[in-house]
Amino acid sequence: MSNIKKIGILTSGGDCAGLNAVIMSVVNAASQQGWEIYGIHDGTDGLTNRPLSYEILTESNFSCSPWPRLAGSYLGSLNTGVKESQEVLAKRFGEGVRELGLDAVLVVGGDGSMNIVSTYCKMAGVKMIGIPKTIDNDTPLTEFSVGFNTACQICTNALDDLVTTARSHHRALILEVMGRDAGHLAMHSAIAGFADICLVPEIPYTLQGIINKLEAVKKSGRTSALIVVSEGVKTEKGEAVTSSVNLVGEKINGGIGDYLSNLINANYKGFQTRVTKLGHVQRSGNPTSFDRGLAVVLGAEAVRLLTEGHTDRMVALSKGKVTSFSLEEVVAAGTTGLDANSEYVKAARAIGMYVGEF
Ligand code: F6P
Repeated sequence: MSNIKKIGILTSGGDCAGLNAVIMSVVNAASQQGWEIYGIHDGTDGLTNRPLSYEILTESNFSCSPWPRLAGSYLGSLNTGVKESQEVLAKRFGEGVRELGLDAVLVVGGDGSMNIVSTYCKMAGVKMIGIPKTIDNDTPLTEFSVGFNTACQICTNALDDLVTTARSHHRALILEVMGRDAGHLAMHSAIAGFADICLVPEIPYTLQGIINKLEAVKKSGRTSALIVVSEGVKTEKGEAVTSSVNLVGEKINGGIGDYLSNLINANYKGFQTRVTKLGHVQRSGNPTSFDRGLAVVLGAEAVRLLTEGHTDRMVALSKGKVTSFSLEEVVAAGTTGLDANSEYVKAARAIGMYVGEF
């Protein structure tokens, strides 16, 4: 049993659909326990900046409200990199938690946030529970993170929309999707959207392999093709393709679709190519029923763990069951990319999709 009376909840890292459903689930489940819930604004900034930035959340914020049905984060989320030393931020984080009298902090985040915030919590002696979210689906030890399914649906819808114009103009249309260094979003969407080619960071490809597939499509009598490429795919020589830099000077992925388009056009005349870069639309949309369900289940499990006195764990979906792992295990596991031997990749190959070469 636990002595929890007051908890904080924050969303950290890139936003996605389903965050508000997680917040709703946590608020409602914690309210059943009679706990007070503090919603921390803008990720860890709400606790590390002064004045502290937060609001008290109750069931009335979310019940019978549009919020859990919307993407984005009601609380705000930041993805801007660390501006000060870990020691300074952890100290301020801990002081903020103590000033508010929080007994534990629930962190809705991806692999990076689990790492960064759990380090602050450890250094500052704060109890934490993590809840995985990300459109990249690369948070370790969970089969699915909140937001991934909705992003897959958005990419699949884009392929459904592109197929008609591809057919009218006899083109090979390239869809560049997000995913950072993981190919889950690209592969799941390419399969659901019946693409001909899917390139992911985990599997090397060759220009000749792409051309061979396009040529096979042409020989079959088909006059159009769909190509999905993950933003983290590199050039054939292994160079990263980036489009710009962020506020702290880190390079931002983007542009591999244009790179491939130019390369294909220069070396193969069978199809004209065009590129669609979906960008941040992938982090929007009303969460799918799967993401809403996952959000509610993981949020409720996070609160249940606290009621039983467990802390410093991340809730997860593993082998179809709701479970949890220690934050130490999660951080040690790092990031989970697409398994090049997964059933998804095997199925893609089996149906003739070009997914690169080993
Ligand atoms: O991690 C989620 C994600 O959407 C990645 O897929 C993408 O590379 C990145 O965030 C974009 O981040 P930002 O919003 O900072 O450009």
